[in-house]
Amino acid sequence: MPDCDEADALLTEALGSRGFGVAPDFLPEAAWRPLAREARGLHARGRFRHAGVGRGASFRVAPEIRNDAVLWIDPSSPTRLQRRWLERVERLRLALNRSLYLGVFGYEAHLARFAPGARYQTHLDRFSDASHRVVSLVLYLNDDWTAEEGGALRLHLGEADAPPWEDVEPRGGTLVAFLSGERPHAVLPARRERLSLVGWLTTRAAGDQRMRAPR
Ligand code: OGA
Ligand code: MN
Repeated sequence: MPDCDEADALLTEALGSRGFGVAPDFLPEAAWRPLAREARGLHARGRFRHAGVGRGASFRVAPEIRNDAVLWIDPSSPTRLQRRWLERVERLRLALNRSLYLGVFGYEAHLARFAPGARYQTHLDRFSDASHRVVSLVLYLNDDWTAEEGGALRLHLGEADAPPWEDVEPRGGTLVAFLSGERPHAVLPARRERLSLVGWLTTRAAGDQRMRAPR
């Protein structure tokens, strides 16, 4: 069982010094495998929707930019497994506020499924319609991922679409944290289905946030 305090300290240090951090065993297999199974079941029952770009009135599906499918986690009725994840994120949120004074009070998240070949072009997670996002947290839910299967998260350390970058393979249990407004990133196409639980720590207090899918 990975030590929560150790993982939180590692991510806090990395976020504070470099603006991103990777915790390879943030969740043990016994925790992420059931979440992955549940996500596949929800997908099979048609609960995922095409992801889009923009929010509210400016929402549109833009397959040339991203062609994943998402299912928002409803904070008022999470599944039992999702609730455990929300509790784990709450612990990390408190650790980050304590050490980095980030002032994050909310969390919004969705499951994301990239079909084989699907991608998400380079983007920032904090933009005019989502200026409340401070820290992006991406948890991976994939078995036995190998480098040849593609699907890396490419985190740009300087300018968008230019080196240097760091590629993170979407292996089950890995958590990537980065500053939403400062790290351009892309999802490279994969040869197989790729599942993640993508969320954002926000400046909004819980209960004050709209976590419904935009459509
Ligand atoms: C996103 C995103 C990354 C991933 O949904 O904004 O960048 O690895 N996802 O799933
Ligand atoms: Mn993103």
